Amino acid sequence: MTTTQLKHYLQFTDLTADEYAYLFARTALIKQKFKAYEKHHPLVDRTLAMIFEKASTRTRVSFEAGMYQLGGSVVHLTTGDSQLGRAEPIEDSARVISRMVDLVMIRTFGQDKIERFAEYSRVPVINGLTNEYHPCQILADIFTYIEHRGSITGKVVAWVGDGNNMANTWLQAAELLGFTVHVSTPSGYEIDPAVAGVKRGSYQVFKDPMQACAGADLVTTDVWTSMGFEAENEARKKAFADWCVDADMMRAAKADALFMHCLPAHRGEEVEAEVIDGPQSVVWDEAENRLHVQKALMEYLLLGIQK
Ligand code: CP
Repeated sequence: MTTTQLKHYLQFTDLTADEYAYLFARTALIKQKFKAYEKHHPLVDRTLAMIFEKASTRTRVSFEAGMYQLGGSVVHLTTGDSQLGRAEPIEDSARVISRMVDLVMIRTFGQDKIERFAEYSRVPVINGLTNEYHPCQILADIFTYIEHRGSITGKVVAWVGDGNNMANTWLQAAELLGFTVHVSTPSGYEIDPAVAGVKRGSYQVFKDPMQACAGADLVTTDVWTSMGFEAENEARKKAFADWCVDADMMRAAKADALFMHCLPAHRGEEVEAEVIDGPQSVVWDEAENRLHVQKALMEYLLLGIQK
């Protein structure tokens, strides 16, 4: 049902730097058309299946609205309202769903599940968040950085908090696009470079989050407890107490540093209200840009490069 070579987007490393350059330029054009109420319907008669095994606001709305805006339609499935929650093998689900739609977006737990789905899928599969990676979010974050400050190549991104799926994906992006990540996590919640699959050089580890922020072009964080880790919530609140992005950390960064958070946010935990609601924060642009980058991504996976 696709017209280009089958290509999945399961990790940030699934695309090349050249493909990202194309996607960022294409996103700018698609966003401009959206703002001008100009129709852009390259995916008429195409259907996206969205499979959610975890909760979502931004990913659900941006993929669903995005597909409609591209002229296509959407099927929404959750574990609770499909056979996915009743132990139908993922390989069988992939075989069946991918015979009926043109594109699949999945939010699930282990990366192995989405990899298995993709192996048996006839159509492109997009990672809408797994325990290990969140590539669509980093795609939006980097586009947002470029919109506000230009190229991210050579810049420093400070990651303050959990060594989670966002941190792993920032590491992958840094190695691919040529910037550096300063990582500071509490003890016991460190990044695992083997999961990101990166070599030392594109990242540096700091015990003190203030040092990680020093001279940074972008400071970013995420909730202390990601979905699926709720049982650890109380322990994490104690461990992460010093990993709250505050005005002092932003002052340690460059004067024109931006603040990002993939949302949802907990003010007073991983970020102080004066930072996320302050002048350096671009979190609303960041959230909106999920829509625009994913429209460019869906178009690219289904149709390839558009002139
Ligand atoms: N940032 C993000 O993925 O948001 P949702 O969990 O609301 O989709």
